[in-house]
Formats: sequence, structure tokens, C-alpha cells
Amino acid sequence: MNIKLMGAGRTLADPAAYANDDRIHKALALLRREAPVHWVEAPGYRPFWAITRHADVMEIERQPDLFRNAPRPILVPDAMEKRTAAQGTNFRTLVSMDGAEHRQVRAIGTDWFGPGALRHLETRVTELARQYVDRMLEFDGECDFVTDIAVHYPLDVILSLLGLPRSDFPRVLSLAKELLGNADQEINGGRGAEGFVAVQQELLTYFNELTAARRATPTTDLASAIANARLDGALLSEFDAASYYILIATAGHDTTSASIAGGLQALIENPQQLRQLQDDLTLLPTAVDEMIRWVTPIKCFLRTATEDYVLRGTTIRKGDSVLLSYPSANRDEDLFEEPFRFDIRRTPNRHLAFGFGVHYCLGAALAKMEARAFFAELLPRLDSVQLAGKAELFATNFIGGLKHLPIRYKLR
Ligand code: HEM
Repeated sequence: MNIKLMGAGRTLADPAAYANDDRIHKALALLRREAPVHWVEAPGYRPFWAITRHADVMEIERQPDLFRNAPRPILVPDAMEKRTAAQGTNFRTLVSMDGAEHRQVRAIGTDWFGPGALRHLETRVTELARQYVDRMLEFDGECDFVTDIAVHYPLDVILSLLGLPRSDFPRVLSLAKELLGNADQEINGGRGAEGFVAVQQELLTYFNELTAARRATPTTDLASAIANARLDGALLSEFDAASYYILIATAGHDTTSASIAGGLQALIENPQQLRQLQDDLTLLPTAVDEMIRWVTPIKCFLRTATEDYVLRGTTIRKGDSVLLSYPSANRDEDLFEEPFRFDIRRTPNRHLAFGFGVHYCLGAALAKMEARAFFAELLPRLDSVQLAGKAELFATNFIGGLKHLPIRYKLR
């Protein structure tokens, strides 16, 4: 076994590697070049095949019957997998479903993220974008853009859509952060698997109360639609309803805030492009797509092979896990011209930050709308912006992005 490749493979599972852009991208580039279908045995994790080329990620996602999400859709340490399975606290979400069940459950939410619903939501999103840019004025020209602004705005959007009271936002925000940033010491305080299970249970209690309230008194929000949805005539179990809210609250929040914060950092580091975008806001749609490619907040999802399958001459055995590396696919030299260049005009931009196929991100259009609304409000009012300290990334192999972005700015 080639030691360099072995190290690169293990890097994919190492949360700390994602806090260091150079380190992770060096490892990914090596795998793309020399071992695009690579068997990884990383300490603490069940082994998996690392899939690092764009075309291969698509080939797998295009065949959901051959590569299923259950039973291992995300990369968590072996000990944690066993513990949550034993305690029955593994949330059952779209992400762990396949086939007809996935289609039916996904359909409950689809309309809420379609063009009609988004048009309806646009006014609210624009209003929130303005409020958050206004909030930047309160910091006297200097803030941590991530913790002061970016983490709050998308959560505000998503929790408004779900229909939760604003007074509950801080509690849900901190629980969602703990659930997702669990590998990062600054967030979980080193509590590990035990802390993870405790957070899951607290969220469950909170959301079970929500289900009961919406069943007693239905309203017009998404939580009510989920609580009162019927599959084959029956309501969802409390656990499945809670899983649905949690998926939406968690999937829709850190990912979008990471894209907005990482997008701003990319603009600061490319001042010419910042100016061009300020001069011509019609570039926002391509700029936002490029920000999302650039950041690629979700580092991976996994699939499990239901049959032996040959990919690039390598046999993936039935029952093996494959890890789809989105950050790698989105820097694939075979598809992207100068993939390491941030380019607000990049077209086409066939990035896989939202995945592909039947599990394609349900909230992709909403996420893009939020980012566009934010920059449409910020950029015309921004006279200057620069880094005011060291930008720091989360140490996580799941949903990542900036943890801190200290900035100094002049805003009108
Ligand atoms: C699924 C990325 C924002 C809700 C996914 C997947 C990715 C992803 C990679 C898995 C796709 C696959 O397996 O092929 C992102 C990124 C976002 C974002 C990068 C922001 C920039 C949102 C928002 C929401 C959302 C705003 C909702 C409010 C979901 C849901 C799924 C999902 C419900 C599961 C879909 C399924 O399994 O059928 N997202 N997402 N996401 N996302 Fe997003």
C-alpha cells in the first residue's frame, strides 16, 4: 500500500483536516489524480471507498437503487454509530431513507421549497436580509461576521418557515450547532458521543411538544404540514415528525450561513471581483453559485452498495460504503477550468455542493435566494471591507465552513 495515498485517504475522515484548506485540498487532489476510487481504513471509523472525482460522484448518485442511503448515510465514528443505534436515538430523516418511502416523505416538504412557496417567502427573506445588514451597523465597523451575523440570518429564515416562536430561536440554534459541530472542541467542549446523544434527546423533547401543539391546533406553517401529514392514511410518528423538523432546521442553516460567510471572505480576498459585483448586481446568481462551489459546506455523504459494482476498474463489493467527497468533486480539474480560482462569472458551474439525483438538496433554491438577498442588500451599502484577524474554519468532516471571520468595514 502506498503510504502517501493511505495518509490522504485517512485525511478525509479527520475533522481537523477540514479546518485547514491546504491540507484537505492537497489530500483530495492526490486522490483524484492517483486513486479516485480508494479504500480507506481510518482509525475510529468503519472503512469506506473514497470517491473523489466529479463524474464518479454523479455516476453513484444517479443509481440510487444500486447505492442506497441506508444504513450509513453519514460519516460518524464507529463508537457513535453503535451508541446511537443501541439507544434508538438515530433520527430517521430523508437522508437515511430510500426508494418509495423516501419519495413519499420527501413529497411532504417539496411544495414548501418550490418556486411558488419561494415567491411567497421572498418578501420575508428580503426583510430579514435588511435587518441583518442593519445589525452590522451596530458593531461600530468591526465584527465577527460568522458569529454576529451569518449564523443567525439563515436560522431566522428557516425557523420562521417552520413556524417556531422567535423566543425559542437561541435554544434551537445552540442545540443545532452542538448536533452538527460535534467534532469541533470549541462547540462540544469535548463531550463526544455522550454529549451528542444528550443533545439529540433535548431536541426530541422540544420537537415532540411542537408536534402535539400543531396537531391540537393546526396552523399554516411547515411544522403544521409535517405534524399533520398522512402517509397511507396515518400520521407520522412523533419521532419521524421530529426527525423532519430537525433535518430542515439543521440542513437549512449551517450550510447557508457557511456559504454566505465563505462567499464574503472570497470577495474580500478578490477585491476586483468584489468591485465588479458591486458595480453589476445582475452577476449575483452566478456569484452565489460560485460561492457555494467555493465553500462546499457539506463535506460528504455516504452510500452503501446493494450489488458488486465496478467503478474505474475497481470492484466495490455489495455492502461496502462509498464516501462521496463533494469538496473534491467541486475542485475536479476534469470538469472545472482553473478550479482553484474564485470566479463570480463562472458559467456553466455544474458543482455538486447540493448533491445530485433523488436526494438533491430540497432547500437549494431557498439557500440561493437567501444568499442573493443578503448580498443584494449588503453590497450597495458597503464602502469598504477587509479582514481584521484570522479567519478560522470548523474542524468537522460533515457540515463545515467558517467558524470565525473577523472583519472591519464601512457601511451605509
Ligand atoms: C440534502 C447541501 C441548504 C434541506 C442536501 C444534500 C446536500 C445539501 C449535499 C444531500 C444531497 C445528496 O445526497 O445528493 C446543501 C447546501 C446548502 C443547503 C450546500 C446551502 C448552501 C439547505 C436548505 C434546506 C436544506 C436551506 C432547507 C431549508 C435539505 C434537505 C435534504 C438536503 C431536507 C435531504 C434531501 C433528501 O435526502 O431527499 N443538502 N443544502 N438544505 N438538504 Fe440541503
